[in-house]
Amino acid sequence: MPEEKWLEINGQKIFYRDIGQGICTVLIHGFAEDGRIWDKQIDALKNDFRLIIPGLPGSGKSIMDSHAPNVSNPIKMDDYASLIKGLLDKEKIGSCVLIGHSMGGYITLAFAEKYPEMLSGFALVHSTAYTDSEEKKALRQKSIEFIQKNGSADFIRQSTPNLFSDFTKENRPELIEEIIERYDNFRPESLVSYYKAMILRPDRTELLKSFKRPIMFIIGGKDNIVPLEDSLKLSHLPTISYIHILENTGHMGMLESTPELNKYLKDFIIKAGV
Ligand code: MLT
Repeated sequence: MPEEKWLEINGQKIFYRDIGQGICTVLIHGFAEDGRIWDKQIDALKNDFRLIIPGLPGSGKSIMDSHAPNVSNPIKMDDYASLIKGLLDKEKIGSCVLIGHSMGGYITLAFAEKYPEMLSGFALVHSTAYTDSEEKKALRQKSIEFIQKNGSADFIRQSTPNLFSDFTKENRPELIEEIIERYDNFRPESLVSYYKAMILRPDRTELLKSFKRPIMFIIGGKDNIVPLEDSLKLSHLPTISYIHILENTGHMGMLESTPELNKYLKDFIIKAGV
């Protein structure tokens, strides 16, 4: 079976990897990333699970056509959730575990609201069900203007260090450089449309309360983007909740705390998938 695949849907061309066999697990990347952000999880999980790793439209090889039919303008988290549904339908997958990093978690929540019957559980990796505060919306607007004026490279170089803890910055600075080099040519129009979708996203705390299957929270003890206090409050809302705090980790547990995260993901997928 080929591991690298394409889905054409609603005028978008989505690149995804389909690796391994077992409980289907979809890994959704965050803002200014692509599916490669999960590369350090693949070896740990592929022998037990079927991993579907898409690039969101406008990220990596996946193509975004904002004028495509049936895609609302501006694009919303719900639209990305519909694309994930289209991907699962194409693969004839009726049930899966969703794992979403940050903005990928916002898409996961939108998916869980629309298609709860398709999920045996989901994990929010450094993500939140709260909507943006007015202050955060204003900051995002400033970032949009910065990107439109200066392009992606300056933006990625300035914003990436903030994704990592001080501990990582001091001890593993090469991780930060690797991410900057990989993503500093990100398409500016993609970054802008992700920001707009994040600004528009609603609060989804009620979904956390009503969802009946397990939810896992992966929390960075030193996350500058999703505060620890918010994650702790949210993690008490679901009926079945698994909560893990990664010490000395910022927003990038996939890279900063790889062995711990891989173990938590593996245990969770097994529990959720039964
Ligand atoms: C992400 O990592 O996806 C974003 O930083 C999330 C956000 O800004 O809310």
